[in-house]
This record gives sequence, structure tokens and C-alpha cells, in this order.
Amino acid sequence: MTSKTNINILPFDYSSPLFQKDRNAYLAQVRELEPIHWSEAVDLWVLTTYDDCQAILKHPHFGRGDGWRINPPGDEPLMPVEVFRSELMLLRDPPEHRRLRQLVQKAFTPTVINNLRPIIYDIMDELLREYENKHEINLVEAIAYPLPIMVISAMLGVPKEDWSIIRRYSKDIGGIFEAIRTQAHIDAGNRLAIEMRAYFDELFAYKKENPADDLITNLIKVKENDAENYTMGELISNSILLLFAGHETTSNLISNGVFDLLSHPEQFERLKNNKNLMPSTVIEVLRYRTSLPFNYRTALEDVEYKDMVFKKGQWVLTSLTTANRDPQYYTDPDVFDIERDEAVPLSFGQGIHYCLGAPLAKLETEIALEKLIEKMPNMKLKNLEPNWIPYIAFRGHTDLWLQF
Ligand code: HEM
Repeated sequence: MTSKTNINILPFDYSSPLFQKDRNAYLAQVRELEPIHWSEAVDLWVLTTYDDCQAILKHPHFGRGDGWRINPPGDEPLMPVEVFRSELMLLRDPPEHRRLRQLVQKAFTPTVINNLRPIIYDIMDELLREYENKHEINLVEAIAYPLPIMVISAMLGVPKEDWSIIRRYSKDIGGIFEAIRTQAHIDAGNRLAIEMRAYFDELFAYKKENPADDLITNLIKVKENDAENYTMGELISNSILLLFAGHETTSNLISNGVFDLLSHPEQFERLKNNKNLMPSTVIEVLRYRTSLPFNYRTALEDVEYKDMVFKKGQWVLTSLTTANRDPQYYTDPDVFDIERDEAVPLSFGQGIHYCLGAPLAKLETEIALEKLIEKMPNMKLKNLEPNWIPYIAFRGHTDLWLQF
């Protein structure tokens, strides 16, 4: 017999008032009722356990398919926004994916990232200087939003005077990654793709004449040594991907970290008394409130998994939020505990698309928290009610006011 709860919860639907009210509780119920769930309401599979999310993200028969296309296959020539999407490692399957990821992989090894420490400290000092004689700060606007974009711009070698241009691109680019439907969205995506391409064409030309110790100069060297294997467009589009992929996500990790610590004052005290807890604190924030709640895959062929058949072309939503709170893997999963030492959360994904910027995101957040604690050890939330970003795809704050 179907219980009343079943009727309210299933089929899974983003527009359900229960989802809108408390998405974690709603998805936890989906996990309990039907961990592998086909939702007619949104026309996709919804996976909610750690094991299933991990298995499908790593499964070679689930991938992107034609997901980078806006118009149906065969509808040529491609529009500028489609050309851009087609060049991104994020939206491609092997072997294209491997070839594109190799372009920038070396710039993101833990050793290279660790060498960025002094740059990140300098940027944090610069951002905090303005608040020396103040007692209130909007953390999102002052730190969480600018820090990641400044760090990645410095890594790429974007001149400082252009950082505001990059910030604008990063703000507008989200539309290009939405399932673009309206003509207005497509037109805006095309305009932005053309504008970004023109800016980066010029920057690459400048760097060719003025090489420096930065990622764009390295990409130019790759192109010079391996001209056949990569187009200029691929170099440029994947540089832009780095700007975007690491921006909103890391901003949200920083604001979620501060919010969760300050709303659990005993945990905040533990961290203040023992800075060695910083790495496990950041992992716990990623687990407890992942900045990207969902990942998507498409079945590349008919696939049988745990007695279910996923038909070719069907979409699969992996709920990282519930995977990260799966009681099979975490004791008291709804408790925020910065000393937790359990399974690695799935917040950076799994498999071939595993987040390239994971070491960078963690380092930026550790340094941001460390500097905030040093400069504002008594910081407190001004409002206990958070202003969540109004998107399903992201979890973070539109603003976060602190008093110190
Ligand atoms: C808290 C911060 C971050 C989170 C939660 C996050 C999360 C993720 C996730 C879940 C994926 C996998 C997408 C998929 O499988 O469909 C991914 C991919 C990716 N991330 Fe991150 N990310 C973060 C920060 C960064 C940073 C700082 C950078 C770089 C500057 C970055 C660059 C990338 C790139 C390039 C990919 C695509 C990799 C590929 O397709 O092979 N991310 N990220």
C-alpha cells in the first residue's frame, strides 16, 4: 500500500513545495523510499545513495553524449555558444575528454597548487585591509566572491586591470551551462561566447609576445609544440572553463564554511583552538553542505544496473547532497563535526570528470578561514536566517553579513 508520505514525495520533483522547503529532508526521504528512482515528473533517474552515485559517475557507459549540443545533431553550422561548449573537457566523453583534460592537468597537481600559497595569502590580506577599522562585513561580496576569481586570474596570467572584466564574464557565463531553452538565453550565450573569444584571442596574442610564468603562456607553448593536436579555440575555451568552474563553487564553499562554523559555535571554538583541524573542517563543509548538490550523466547505451534498465539517452541525476549524508557511510550524518574521519564526500564528483580544481578549492578555503579567524576571531552571524542563492544547481549565500 502506498503511504501518504510516498504520495507527497514521489515522483521526485524540483517544484514540489517539500523540496523547496527543505531539500535535504526531501531527498533523504526519496533515498529511503526508492534509492534508484525514475521520475516521470522531471523525466530523469534520481540516484541518492553514496554507492549508486559513485558507481554511475564512474561507469564507462554513462557520460555526456550529445549534451554539449543545443540544436539537434546534424544542424550545422554550430552557433558560437555551441562551438564553445563543444570544446570543453567538462562536456565531452573519451577520447576527446582525455585529450582536452591533458592540456591543463599539469597546472593543477597538489604540488603546483601548494606553491600558490603566498599568492592566496597576499590576496586575502589585500581584501581584508579595507576592513581594519570596521565591525561589519558582507563576507560574500568582500571575500568569498572575489578571492577565487582573483586567484584563477593570477594563475592564468590575466592582467590585474582586467580582473573586473573576468568577474563579469564569470557572473554571466552560468546561462551557457543551463539547459538553454529560450531564444533569449541562446542569444545571450552567443553574444558572450563571441565577446569572451575576442578578449582571450587578444590576451593569447599578447602573451605570445610577452611570455611569463603563467598558465596561458604554458598553453601557448603546448600549441607551439603540438600544433596538430589542439586548436586555438580549445585552448581558449578550456581557459574560460577554469575561470567559471572554480568561481561560484569555491565562493559558496567559503561562505558555507563560515556559515556552518558560526552556526555551530562549539565547532568554531574547536577550530580556533586547534588550527590542525583546518583540512578536516573544509572536508566536513564539503560533505555537510556541498556547493554543487547534483551531478548529471546520460546513458550512452542501454545499461542494466541493479536489475534496472537505463535506456540510451536517459538522464541520470546523482544527488551528492544525499550521498554525502548516507547513513551507510557516515555516523550521525546530519551532525556537523569538523573532526569526522569517514568516507571522502562526493562533492568533487568521481570518475574521469573528477574536479580538476579540488586541491585549489580546498587550499583557498583553508587560507580564507585561517585569515578570517586571525583578523576577526570574534566574528558572529548578523542574521541567523541565511539568504540562499535561488538556484537548484548551487548551494551558497547571496550575502552573508558578519559582525566582528
Ligand atoms: C568547492 C569548489 C568546487 C566544487 C564543489 C567543484 C565540483 C566539481 C564537480 C562535482 C565536478 C565534476 C562534474 C561532473 O562530473 O559532471 C567538477 C569538475 C571540474 N572542476 Fe570543479 N569544483 C570546485 C572548484 C573548482 C576549481 C577551483 C576549479 C579550477 C580552477 C575547478 C575546475 C573544474 C574542472 C575543469 C572540471 C571538469 C573536469 C573534467 O571534465 O574532466 N573546480 N568540479
